[in-house]
Amino acid sequence: MNPSTPFQSLILAAGMGTRMRSDTIKVLHPLLGTPLIGHVTRAALDAGAARVVPILGHQREEVEAWLRTQSYADAIHPAFQDEQLGTAHAVACGLPALDPEIPYTLILSGDVPNLDAETLIAMVNDAASAGCDLAVMTAILNDPASYGRIIRSEQGHLSAIVEFKDATDDQRAITEINAGIYLARTAFLLDAIPAIMDAGTDNAQNEYYLTDLVALAARNERAIAWPVATPELVQGVNDRLDLARATDFVRRRTLERWMRAGVTLIDPARTTIEPTATLEPDVTLEPDVTICGSSHIARGAHIEQGCRITNSHVGPGARLLAYSYLTDARVDQNASIGPFAHLRPGADIGKGCKVGNFVEIKKTRLDQGAKASHLTYLGDAHVGENANVGAGTITCNYDGKNKHRTTIGQGAFIGSNTALVAPITIGEGAYVGAGSTLTDDVPPRALGIARGRQRNIEDWADPTPE
Ligand code: UD1
Ligand code: CA
Repeated sequence: MNPSTPFQSLILAAGMGTRMRSDTIKVLHPLLGTPLIGHVTRAALDAGAARVVPILGHQREEVEAWLRTQSYADAIHPAFQDEQLGTAHAVACGLPALDPEIPYTLILSGDVPNLDAETLIAMVNDAASAGCDLAVMTAILNDPASYGRIIRSEQGHLSAIVEFKDATDDQRAITEINAGIYLARTAFLLDAIPAIMDAGTDNAQNEYYLTDLVALAARNERAIAWPVATPELVQGVNDRLDLARATDFVRRRTLERWMRAGVTLIDPARTTIEPTATLEPDVTLEPDVTICGSSHIARGAHIEQGCRITNSHVGPGARLLAYSYLTDARVDQNASIGPFAHLRPGADIGKGCKVGNFVEIKKTRLDQGAKASHLTYLGDAHVGENANVGAGTITCNYDGKNKHRTTIGQGAFIGSNTALVAPITIGEGAYVGAGSTLTDDVPPRALGIARGRQRNIEDWADPTPE
């Protein structure tokens, strides 16, 4: 679905969020790996916002710096609110950053992270076709808590919003609440916000209320309420309990999307896929799997229990055995990893390779069919096709100051318990005797061996043991 009209978006994000009881501003708290403001910005852009104006105040350098690292940074035009005098004042600070030529402005809250692009598009389209000045997203809640209450006329038309702190008992009994999401005609907003600012702050919180927009638009019968069917979508995050609830909602919704797309989850309640990760059909995830960041899991891959995969690519048909831990790594088609393997940044495992238990790999390429089956550390290395790295092999890549490279040729065979002191090259088809500590290259097809010779001392033991 596409929006039927161009629109831009304001995101209110200047408040500290004191109820989080944190040194970090609320909108930077991560929800499944992405700060709250990232979820809101993403939803606005996915819905088609032509530009996004976040209103920043507390910790604005940190929030802006995070936004600058995102692929969509060019669409972001921050505005600043130095003192937090209320939601209408926040919007007032953002007005100069708006493009007056864009007919509609969608106002979002940085602490309402569950909203998706589909819902925003539906609201934009309904409001635009109704031709109103203002649409307010509302929800009916069993426990309307301290949300602003929606006041309707006898005919059922939206007439005002009353903040909880200003509301009478009768008004507090209303269960339809203001979600804090608005679609305004830009021209209306540019007129109405200065009017709210001129009117002052005659209310319980002594703030400029954005909610006063409603009464202004309703005067000319140009305000509509836009009730949302799924109340969780508009759940605000004010404290850590809200954050956990929102996390659970986004987590479940993300899992449902992947199951519909052909991914098998053995136990969805014990599976986490961050919204930034992607999967292909016929992937299977066992319980306690966590897939983070920009990870991609290709068709038919099977991820066993307890694996954690961050910013990594797992190829088609690959198998990650239980409790493997991958960060910034690549695993190609039909490779087998783990159990208990640790692939660190720059691990690049080729087709059909086998990496076994208690193997740690960093900045190392394994060409097709290579094996490191047990208890091994490979760092800053290249392992050729079908080479076999024996149990307990260690690349000694660090001399205390610098890192050095190890090259193991195609088809080479490294005996168990070998220390390869880098820089070093083991030639194609070469052998290394078990227990060697090698400091020099081994030519192709040669046997390198560097260990004390065994000698046996006869009759060492007492001839008549007790
Ligand atoms: C607001 C609404 C309330 C609605 C609720 C929905 C008003 C007056 N009330 O209340 O009707 O039910 O949202 O979640 O608008 N902010 C600024 N600058 C400010 C004040 C707030 O940027 O000066 C930002 C906050 O950082 C936050 C958002 O605006 O991201 C909402 O502010 P908050 O104080 O949480 O408003 P609520 O009391 O929740
Ligand atoms: Ca709030």
